[in-house]
Amino acid sequence: MDLYEYQARELFEEHGILVPKAEVTDAPREAREIARRLGGRVVVKAQVKTGGRGKAGGVKLAADPAAAELTARQILGMDIKGHTVGKVMLAQPVDIEAEFYVSYVLDRAAGRFLAIASAEGGMDIEEVAATRPEAVARIPVDPAEGVTTARAAQIARAAGLPAQTVDVLVRLWDVLVREDAVLVEVNPLVKTSGGQILALDGKVTLDDNARFRQQRWGAQESAHDDALEAAAAAKGLNYVKLDGEVGVIGNGAGLVMSTLDVVAGCGARPANFLDIGGGASAQIMADGLSVILSDPAVKSVFVNVFGGITACDAVADGIVQALESVRLTKPLVVRLDGNSAAQGRAILDERAHPLVEQATTMDGAARRAADLANAH
Ligand SMILES: Nc1ncnc2c1ncn2[C@@H]1O[C@H](COP(=O)(O)OP(=O)(O)OP(=O)(O)O)[C@@H](O)[C@H]1O
Ligand SMILES: [Mg+2]
Repeated sequence: MDLYEYQARELFEEHGILVPKAEVTDAPREAREIARRLGGRVVVKAQVKTGGRGKAGGVKLAADPAAAELTARQILGMDIKGHTVGKVMLAQPVDIEAEFYVSYVLDRAAGRFLAIASAEGGMDIEEVAATRPEAVARIPVDPAEGVTTARAAQIARAAGLPAQTVDVLVRLWDVLVREDAVLVEVNPLVKTSGGQILALDGKVTLDDNARFRQQRWGAQESAHDDALEAAAAAKGLNYVKLDGEVGVIGNGAGLVMSTLDVVAGCGARPANFLDIGGGASAQIMADGLSVILSDPAVKSVFVNVFGGITACDAVADGIVQALESVRLTKPLVVRLDGNSAAQGRAILDERAHPLVEQATTMDGAARRAADLANAH
């Protein structure tokens, strides 16, 4: 989950990184009050979870409280790259001598973090990175070692940042670790005319897998932008929306992953990943089916179960009971194999639902589900 700038600023402040005084509001009248409290002149900043706010007109200097109210009125409700501005942050203006760029980002492929830093930060950092990559230092960070003072000094030196940034680089790593972030970015990190180092803008992306121990953000919003994923998460399902037409339900993440491959191999595209895990109760089956059937892109559903500790007859019972509470609107292809497969198949045969058919092999079932989806 991405945080808003004002939330990132709060985290930086808590970890001892200097930031300008600032407050957030969704009301222009209050913006005037805030500006007064902050000394009159303020920078008004759109709070949206996308970059390039400045270039889109979402970051403006206001000379006094009245101007702050007017500017807040203009920026609130503005559309920036498809994001509607619901809040503005008003910050004390800072006298900038130099703008730097610093970030730590998870490098999944390398199994490490990467420190990215440049002495040429600010709104044109993307262009700097594209046209003069040598102006951007990239230093790997071993997660077990972290950013020590020595490593921070190496990053600062490689990027040509002043020595005072070393302390900020160490603290920023602390933000990443303590807050369970996979990305922390400060652009710009500035040197003021008074010689202070301040974070003027921040982006933090939290690791969704660590949400259970970062409760403070929990109530604010769902980690799921997709409505189906949010509905599935609310039911405790392990569901990921994909782009295809064949809904997939399986037991065990590995089996579901290979089911996606087999469906793709049959010339169709899986519509989702859904692992119902070991205990495939009727409730979980019903919940899974209802989420998948509510996806308008789904044309057929493939239930792929290999009975282990949960036997196939229990899964078949689950499917039959689920059919009582969920109205099946699309064809369902079921493959049951493993523990008590014969009993499970018999249960489904007996139910004889017109939209449910069975296949004995995974490949055969995938082909059938793909054909049914493609026939639409
Ligand atoms: N408090 C401040 N005082 C003075 N100048 C500021 C302040 N905040 C921002 N600025 C200036 O405005 C520029 C743009 O601000 P900021 O980095 O917050 O937005 P942005 O980069 O356009 O947004 P994003 O990072 O989402 O692309 C900064 O590079 C800096 O020059
Ligand atoms: Mg910025």
